[in-house]
Amino acid sequence: MVRRPFSSRVPADLGVNRLSRALQQARADRRPLIDLTLSNPTRAGFDYPSDLLEPLAHARGLTYEPQPFGLMDARRAVASDYQRRGLSVAPERVVLTASTSEAYSVLFKLLTDAGDEVLVPRPSYPLFDHLTQLDGVTSCPYDLECHDGWSIDLAGLEQALSDRTRALLLVTPNNPTGSFVSRKELTRLTAICAEREIAIIADEVFADYQVRPGACVDAARALEVRDGLLFSLGGLSKSVGLPQVKLGWIALAGEDDLVGAALERLELICDTYLSVSTPVQAAAAELLARGAAIRKQIQARVASNYSTLARQVEAVPSCTLLAADGGWYSVLQVPSLGSEEDLVVSLVDRGVVVHPGYFFDFPRESYLVVSLLPPERDFANGVAAVLRHIEQAL
Ligand SMILES: Cc1ncc(COP(=O)(O)O)c(C=O)c1O
Repeated sequence: MVRRPFSSRVPADLGVNRLSRALQQARADRRPLIDLTLSNPTRAGFDYPSDLLEPLAHARGLTYEPQPFGLMDARRAVASDYQRRGLSVAPERVVLTASTSEAYSVLFKLLTDAGDEVLVPRPSYPLFDHLTQLDGVTSCPYDLECHDGWSIDLAGLEQALSDRTRALLLVTPNNPTGSFVSRKELTRLTAICAEREIAIIADEVFADYQVRPGACVDAARALEVRDGLLFSLGGLSKSVGLPQVKLGWIALAGEDDLVGAALERLELICDTYLSVSTPVQAAAAELLARGAAIRKQIQARVASNYSTLARQVEAVPSCTLLAADGGWYSVLQVPSLGSEEDLVVSLVDRGVVVHPGYFFDFPRESYLVVSLLPPERDFANGVAAVLRHIEQAL
């Protein structure tokens, strides 16, 4: 066998799956498709003023001032953006990154050695497989359970802990379940982690978006944690619908000495890459302010599509909409007539694209995941096509 100079951090099998092949074919045949997996806000018909990104041309961006954690003005802007949610964090505890995905990589470098473990929610964001593997970290799942709403299986989570566990990932609200971590859960998890010197990474990229009124206010407040060590992640990608601008951040909370020691080490990591562009840092305050108008449109869209979805699914007894509180996605439980893969591929033939639950590591079949971002009419038509197909298949 020919030996190749490649790391096993990148999977050996890079082949495309059946759904991607069916999609490629439908697009090559120019068949009309309603994309209920749309997650790119810049393609979802929102009104982005054409001069929205003018702050990126500010003359301050002409001077390179390398700072490991980013320019202080930009860190101040992020800190004051947390105040919008009633949260207080010192700008000195804010670290800028190019994206939330990069923030994960920075934190895995800070917290883990090769082969160490991080606990990852299941079901959750599929990119965690790559984000962990690319940094040589082993991801160990803990379950979210849906009864009358979602909750963390705390007993299962404790069983998943080992001597090599270095971090616990929380996604609040979670992609795709739309569940926020509750205050009670965070209190318990903080105690478990602080006692075992495990850091908490709280991914709050969707924290601005609720589909149940009051959900954001009821949710756990990660930055109020005072025991152990916690990192809250956010970014322009979701909070103002600007993924292409590439600005994310990490805000630290917890015991002062641990936060201080983490910042000292993060400084070395961030100084090695200096990956955040100066123009985006110079523009951060203004982009955060201007982006409020985009956030408002996205919030209205996800709330409206969720209500439509609830109404449409209620009329179809064989399907159930799993209760969600926030975020950009929703989950339908559907009858298992064949595999999820067969179902999503046959839906492409019907002109509609949805995610199968197994992409998100649902423990059983059959679930479908839809994005709440598509324009309202496309969304309603797409959901109607999915439900019609399922009813006919029964
Ligand atoms: C839970 C979650 N975290 C992080 C990200 C990535 O955010 P960014 O664009 O800042 O890398 C996503 C993107 O969909 C996500 O769903």
